[in-house]
Amino acid sequence: MRSKIVAGNWKMNKTYNEMEILLAELSAKVPDTEAEIMVAPTFVNLPRAFKMLESSVIEPIAQNMHFAESGAYTGEVSADMLLGIGIETVILGHSERRSVFGETDEILAKKTIAALEKNLRVVFCFGEELEDRKSGNHFNIVDNQLKDGLFNLRPEVWSNIVLAYEPVWAIGTGETASPEQAQEMHAFIRKTISNEYDDNIAENVSILYGGSVKPGNATEIFSKPDVDGGLIGGASLNTDDFIAIIKAI
Ligand code: PGA
Repeated sequence: MRSKIVAGNWKMNKTYNEMEILLAELSAKVPDTEAEIMVAPTFVNLPRAFKMLESSVIEPIAQNMHFAESGAYTGEVSADMLLGIGIETVILGHSERRSVFGETDEILAKKTIAALEKNLRVVFCFGEELEDRKSGNHFNIVDNQLKDGLFNLRPEVWSNIVLAYEPVWAIGTGETASPEQAQEMHAFIRKTISNEYDDNIAENVSILYGGSVKPGNATEIFSKPDVDGGLIGGASLNTDDFIAIIKAI
């Protein structure tokens, strides 16, 4: 059975002190839920987040990592470094990593393999740009991102993968894919995985939707059968909004 997940991606937001306040509020208010709840603070705040969340249902996760074990990669963080502070899950392939930092499908495939080899769980993000959607090329783009990023993986490791479909045109723009558009793409993703691997893997992988999820639209998006939760940016920085989204699942 695939799990329901609500994950907050805090990006380059919240200083140490601001994060402490947000985490304390979230821990106090997080409702009882069967869903997995995750938050991704910036690297420098991760050890503190881990300590603060030791007895909480909220899991601290990383926003990124490098594929190399160690070495001359100034400014980068390795899988072992994450494991060394207790982190078990990493987001890879966020559209900002792809577009702002030039991470290609090839780089992301290497990162994914490196993370899975260390038994890290991977939240793998992908999604089309506005022009792709307008030209009707969105299914092709997503198909290629899945193929190039993930379809070289052995079937066994899929239990450690969570997918996050994030149409780039909906990220931080206030524009959301309609629940129907999200469902249509999630069903396509599941079918593509089923064709490449099998029904079992396709049915058991959690597929999150990301892109301007807010308290006002979360319930409807999460109600779709192939949407297993959300990767939340802006709204996860506000306690009441994030709690409301968690309640929606
Ligand atoms: P948003 O970001 O919720 O602010 O649109 C989503 C994301 O980048 O994961």
